[in-house]
Amino acid sequence: MTRSERNELPPRHGREVGGSGLRTSEGQGTRPFRSFYTRALGNPPAVYGERIRWREDEAWRPMEPSRTKLGAALAKGLRDPRLGPGTNVLYLGAATGTTASHVADLVGPSGVVYAVEKSPRAFLKLLAMARRWPNVAPVLRDARRPQDYLGLVPMVGAIYADISQADQVEIVTANAELFLEDGGWLLFAVKLSSMGRELTGPARVEQVLASLQPGFRVVEQVSLEPFHRKHLFLTARYGVRDGAPRSAPSPRTSR
Ligand SMILES: C[S@@+](CC[C@H](N)C(=O)[O-])C[C@H]1O[C@@H](n2cnc3c(N)ncnc32)[C@H](O)[C@@H]1O
Repeated sequence: MTRSERNELPPRHGREVGGSGLRTSEGQGTRPFRSFYTRALGNPPAVYGERIRWREDEAWRPMEPSRTKLGAALAKGLRDPRLGPGTNVLYLGAATGTTASHVADLVGPSGVVYAVEKSPRAFLKLLAMARRWPNVAPVLRDARRPQDYLGLVPMVGAIYADISQADQVEIVTANAELFLEDGGWLLFAVKLSSMGRELTGPARVEQVLASLQPGFRVVEQVSLEPFHRKHLFLTARYGVRDGAPRSAPSPRTSR
């Protein structure tokens, strides 16, 4: 295969973000937003029709902002996705694995993504993706009942949530209580239109932020417009006050 057939990423195109398996390049022309790529762990590397860029033998996958809310959040200025190499992630609402595969790329071979999805139809596609991604563990369960996967999922350093339900905050909180380490991170794609019609946009945001307290401290928040209407993306730290863990490590942390 020639270089142009393989659509190689020119060496001057983009820069790696801290050796993390994440690359970025400046937006230009009709694409004013910065582009982000993850280094594919899976083979073959494309999951949702994204156009793979090659750099020598590495496949880099663009995070299409209109397809993945994490890609949209980065394009909109999220500074730190908090998914360093080796992080174990509990992913709530994995669907067919579009974003879960990027998260798996980011945490690399020493991290695991426990991908919870309740729709059997979506789960079949998720299973097919996980067969070729070495660090994705699909879990066919209802995230409203986290006790049902206690034996399948260990304590994790991060929860990624994208479930688009009216009780999304309650679902996240219940999962954090069982699975998230003190000082762990929440990455939360919040569907504001699921929060009820009686509140305006800003009031819905305030409601979400208030309902995450006191367990979480929100660190970053970005609107996902125009890629995902009425969606907010936030990162928050769990159980930490003034930079120190809330309490001594509980028995949960040793599971
Ligand atoms: C917006 S889609 C997720 C898209 C996916 N995160 C991505 O970026 O590729 C929401 C998903 O959450 C799933 N979901 C909704 N409620 C759930 C629950 N209680 N437990 C598990 N999955 C749930 C839906 O079946 C759907 O697949």
